[in-house]
Amino acid sequence: MRYALLAAVFATACVTSSQATRAGGAVENPIVQVGHPVLRERAKDVTKEQLATPEFQALVARMTEAMRQAPGVGLAAPQLGVPLRVFVLEDRAELQASLTPGELGERERVPVPLRVIVNPTLTPIGDERVTFFEGCLSVSGYAALVERWREVEVSGLDEKGEPVTWRVKGWPARILQHETDHLDGVIYIDRMLPRTFGTLPQVKARFGGKPIADIKEALGVTK
Ligand code: CO
Repeated sequence: MRYALLAAVFATACVTSSQATRAGGAVENPIVQVGHPVLRERAKDVTKEQLATPEFQALVARMTEAMRQAPGVGLAAPQLGVPLRVFVLEDRAELQASLTPGELGERERVPVPLRVIVNPTLTPIGDERVTFFEGCLSVSGYAALVERWREVEVSGLDEKGEPVTWRVKGWPARILQHETDHLDGVIYIDRMLPRTFGTLPQVKARFGGKPIADIKEALGVTK
C-alpha cells in the first residue's frame, strides 16, 4: 500500500506518527520536537571519561530504543534533550520491505546494522549531490526534498571509545549527514527545497513513486 511504502521511504533519518507507550501509559524516551532550543544548540563533545560511564551507555541504549520504537533510521542525542555529540543509526530490512527494488536502488538504500558514532567528523567525498524526500522524528508528520552529498566519510568513536572511520554512499550517507547536522543545531528544514515541504499524507498522496525531477518541475523548483 502506498502509505506504508512511503512511511518506509520517509523513515530516512526519522519520521514517526506516534510515540510508543508502555503499560503505564507514559511515553518512553519522548523525542524533542522542533521549537525546543536543544535542537538549535551546538552539542558538546563526549569526553573519554564520560564515554565510559554507565550513564552514557544508558543514554546510547535509550537512543537506540527510541529510534526503533519510532521507528526511524537515525537519532541524535539532542533529540532526547541531551546536548552531546553522539548519534545512533540503523536501517533494518523490515523498514525497507515496502519499497520496490527500483526505489531501493535509486536511493542506494541497503540494510545497515546498528552503529553508534561519538564525536563525528563528516567529510563529503566527491562532488555529487542527490535529492530525495526526507523527514525527521523532531519535525513529526512532515517531509521535504533535501539535497545531500551522495558519498561521505565519517570518523569518530564507537560506543566503546574505539576509533571508527566509515566511507559510504547513498542512503546511509544521507542519514549520516542528517544526524551530524543535529549535533550542530541544524535541522533538515534549514536545507530543504522549501516548496516541496508538506505533511506526510500530502507528500505521499501527491508524490509517492514519482520521479524527483517531475516533482520539482510540478512544484516550480528550478534548483
Ligand atoms: Co532528525
